Amino acid sequence: MNKTNWIGKKIIHKEITGSTNQDIKELAMGGAEEGTVVCADIQTAGRGRRGRSWLSEKGDSLLFSLLLRPEIEPDKVSQITLLMALAITKVLREIYGFAAMIKWPNDIVINGKKVCGILTELYPDADGRYFVIVGCGINVGQKRVPDELQGIATSLFLESNRNCMIETEELLQGILAEFEQYYDRFLISESLAEFVDEYNTRLISLHKEVRVLDPKGEYNGISKGINDKGELLVELADGTVTEVYAGEVSVRGLYGYV
Ligand code: BTN
Repeated sequence: MNKTNWIGKKIIHKEITGSTNQDIKELAMGGAEEGTVVCADIQTAGRGRRGRSWLSEKGDSLLFSLLLRPEIEPDKVSQITLLMALAITKVLREIYGFAAMIKWPNDIVINGKKVCGILTELYPDADGRYFVIVGCGINVGQKRVPDELQGIATSLFLESNRNCMIETEELLQGILAEFEQYYDRFLISESLAEFVDEYNTRLISLHKEVRVLDPKGEYNGISKGINDKGELLVELADGTVTEVYAGEVSVRGLYGYV
């Protein structure tokens, strides 16, 4: 059942596609309305962050992309990823009872293993403005994890001790409804200030040592949570605090994936 006011009023469901982000991009270029969603049972060319691919097998995942046309400064667009992470973790925690946490900025983890990735993309449109695509891949029904991803990835089915069959359509509707609420509030202030505390309580690295994989040079520090721009604050050994912008940087825990 649809529980939103404007997001997902049009949902296009595909059995198979290349990438739902690519589908939304093409629809957006053709003038599709903000809030349009494409979801697919399987993708043959799923895109991940930093040029990686996102693999999925038929019927095991919730794969969807959402079209937004925000009138905010482009440098604030990466904050939308954090809002989606909040929405997904809220639904997984409150509706399904999973101890879902956020690995800044765009992964959702359960028991230290990745269950969801979010890819936010920004493109110019024909009118000289821009549109945003928020694409999410959630591992729902996978019954096993490939050998190379053991200890790194998981699915909702596996984390429910193999006894929870989740309806992907219901999960999607729950996420869209939560995201809409976060996003509508965000557009009023154009800041994450009111979400910082909530985000930080779900941040898996909070107060832990992390390694910042900055292409200009890697370093270690203590994660102090995000600020109101969605940057990760990392305290260095000399006590100074750096603001890490999500862009091309990722952060790892010192012991394992999170
Ligand atoms: C990541 O963790 O690297 C982000 C992965 C995002 C994958 C989703 S699946 C649905 C949507 N379509 C894509 O091609 N990518 C996103």
